[in-house]
Amino acid sequence: MEDIYANVDYALIDEDRLQARIQEVADQITADYMGKDDLLLICVLKGGYMFLADLSRALKRPHTIDFMGVSSYGSGTQSSGAVQIIMDLKQPINGRNVLIVEDIIDSGHTLDYMRRTLLARNPASLRICSLLNKPSRREVDVAVEYIGFDIPDEFVVGYGLDFDELYRNLPFIAVLKPAVFAHLMS
Ligand code: IMP
Ligand code: MG
Repeated sequence: MEDIYANVDYALIDEDRLQARIQEVADQITADYMGKDDLLLICVLKGGYMFLADLSRALKRPHTIDFMGVSSYGSGTQSSGAVQIIMDLKQPINGRNVLIVEDIIDSGHTLDYMRRTLLARNPASLRICSLLNKPSRREVDVAVEYIGFDIPDEFVVGYGLDFDELYRNLPFIAVLKPAVFAHLMS
């Protein structure tokens, strides 16, 4: 069996910084939704699963959770721009205060599609929380109310994010060694 750490070049965001920032974002969300008795977190699968788990634990208020699966990258590192729901929510969201929880906003196509799709279902409010943001790669303008970290234009893995479905279980945000992508260049 392969050691997943063997292909890591360096940690872009280590575990301590990640957890400290998640607590700050959670405290901000707790404060902003004060006085509202409903909050529904919608986790974008698969990449958002680890962030959802930690953000949910860090929130000091009641909330419910649901999951939505959307198509993401294939085995490459470029978005096709075409987004598709592959698993829908279990419940209607009309009248709910909805917060979308996503791992990263890159081109913006995924969150733009999610925002439009969920708005059409008439929630009471709709906001987005993304752990990571690559501002330099944006192709569509999307309002993201909560952002953990702005990062440079590097393909990152770990903490839910994958390359070819691997590395999601790293507890930090990492950049892989260039050799890992070598087969994509040929
Ligand atoms: P967008 O639609 O281009 O904004 O891309 C959003 C989706 O692409 C995210 O939900 C991720 O699944 C994936 N993605 C974008 N950048 C990265 C990255 O650096 N590493 C891993 N997945 C990424
Ligand atoms: Mg994702």
